[in-house]
Amino acid sequence: MNDARKSAWDKLALHPDPTLTELFAGDPGRVDKLGGRIELGANGILFDWSKTHLTDDLIADFEELAKAANFDEMRRRLFAGEVVNPTENRAAEHTALRSVGKESSVEEAEALRARMQMLVEAIHDGALGEVNHLIHVGIGGSALGPALAVDALARDFPKVDVHVVSNIDGVALEEAFAACDPHTTLIAVASKTFTTIETMTNAQSALKWLENNDVADPTGKVIALTAAPEKAVEWGVDETRILPFAESVGGRYSVWSSIGFPVAIAIGWEEFQQFLDGAAAVDRHFRDTDGAANLPLRAAFADLYYARIKGAETRAVFAYDERLGLLPDYLQQLEMESNGKSVTADGEPVDGPTAPITWGGVGTDAQHAVFQLLHQGTHLVPIDFIASVEPGDALDPAHHRILLMNCFAQGAALMAGKQSDDPARSYAGNRPSATILCDDLDPATLGALIAFHEHRTFANAVLMGINPFDQFGVELGKEIARKIEKGGERFDPSTEALLSLAGLAE
Ligand code: F6P
Repeated sequence: MNDARKSAWDKLALHPDPTLTELFAGDPGRVDKLGGRIELGANGILFDWSKTHLTDDLIADFEELAKAANFDEMRRRLFAGEVVNPTENRAAEHTALRSVGKESSVEEAEALRARMQMLVEAIHDGALGEVNHLIHVGIGGSALGPALAVDALARDFPKVDVHVVSNIDGVALEEAFAACDPHTTLIAVASKTFTTIETMTNAQSALKWLENNDVADPTGKVIALTAAPEKAVEWGVDETRILPFAESVGGRYSVWSSIGFPVAIAIGWEEFQQFLDGAAAVDRHFRDTDGAANLPLRAAFADLYYARIKGAETRAVFAYDERLGLLPDYLQQLEMESNGKSVTADGEPVDGPTAPITWGGVGTDAQHAVFQLLHQGTHLVPIDFIASVEPGDALDPAHHRILLMNCFAQGAALMAGKQSDDPARSYAGNRPSATILCDDLDPATLGALIAFHEHRTFANAVLMGINPFDQFGVELGKEIARKIEKGGERFDPSTEALLSLAGLAE
C-alpha cells in the first residue's frame, strides 16, 4: 500500500464515535446533506445515507483516501475502456452496453443491440411461429440478472412467459418443462464462454426435450447468447440465432448485453431499452460527479467505514418490495464475486477486510424471521432498505401503506433503540441503515438500481486497491470436479468416503 493510502486509513481509524441520534441532534441539515437523488426522466431514486455514521469530517478523510487510491484515474480508465482488470489484461465495458463509454465500444455494442432488437421484435411478431414460453439456461452472471429483471418487471409488462434455469440439478429443468408447452417454447442458451458444464448439460437436455416431443426443427428453436459465437456454431446453433457480446463484458455485469435477451422477450423491446437508459443515467452521474456528492462513491465510504473501521462482517439488503425478491441473490454475486479477494491488484496481500458477506431478504417477511438479531444481537450489520413510493399492486392501498410504514419504522427503531429496566426488553440502538426510495419500480428504475450497485462495488474495490473484475476463486472447485469425473486421482479420506457412499468412486 502506498504511504498516502496508509496514512489516509490510519486517519480514518482515529475518528470520534458519536451516536446516530447525536449526529442528527448536532446537524439539522443532515437529511438533505446525506440524501441525494438521481433523476430518471419521469421518475427518480432517493439515496438516503443520513442514518449512517458518515460525518463531514469522515467524508473529508474518505475523500483523501479516494485521492490516495487514484479513484479519479481508475474511474477514467473504466469509462475509457482501458485495462482495469490487470490479471486478465482486460477492460470492463459494461457501461458501453448502456451507450456510455469508449466511442468505438459504444458503436460495437449498439450494432450488436440492433441485431438483438431485430430478433426480439421478429419473435414478438411471430416470425418463429407461436412463442408462449422461453426457457433461459445459464448460471451465475448469465442467469442472475435475467432472473431478477424478469421477476421484477414481467408482471407489469407481460409478453412471453420466461423461465430461468441455472442449477445442474435436473429438478430445476424439469420444473420449467412442466410449466411450458414444448411446441411454443424457445430455448436460450446463455454462457459467456459457452463451456460451463451446468449450462451446456442443461442446454443438451432442453434440446432433447424438444426432440422427444416431436418439435419440428428443434435446433432452430435454440438461441445462443455468448461471447464465444464460434463455440455456439460448433454446438450446432444456427448462425442467425446467435447473439454475441464483447469479451470485455464480465459475466456478472452482462445483463445489459445479449444475456438480457430473455428480459427483452419477457417485457418488450421498448421497456428493455428503458432498463438500459436508467443504468446510463447512473453511469453519467458516477462518471461526472466528484467527491462524496457521487452517490455510489458515498455509499462505498459508508461500506468501508463499517467493514474496515468497525469490523462489520456482513451487510444486509432488505427490499420492501416483493418484485425485488431476487435482488439479494444478484448482489451476492456482484459484490462477493467482485470484491471477495485477499490480494490487491498488484498481487500484494490486502491491508484489511474486503467485501463483507452480502445477505438479505424481503420486508416485511424478514422482520418476522431475522430482525431479532438485527435489533438485539451482538453483530454490527449495516442495512440497506429498498422501497418504492408507488405500489406494485392494485389492491387496497392499505397493503402498500403498511409495507412502507414498516420499512421506515425499522430504520427508525434500529437507530433510536429503546431503554428498559428489563435487559431483555432493551434495544441498544445506534444501528446504521441506508434507505433507497424509488418513486416507482419501472424498468429504468431497476436498471438504475443495478448500475448504482455496480459502481458502488467498483468504488469499494478502488478504495481497497483490489481488482473487482476477475474471479479466480471459483476455479479450483471446478478443477477438482473435473478430476473426479475423469477418474484416476486420489483425494482426502473424507472426500473418498463421500464419493464411495454416492457410488461415484472408481
Ligand atoms: O462461477 C464463475 C463464473 O465464471 C461467473 O463469473 C459467471 O457469471 C458464470 O461462471 C457463468 O459463466 P459463463 O457465462 O461463461 O457460462
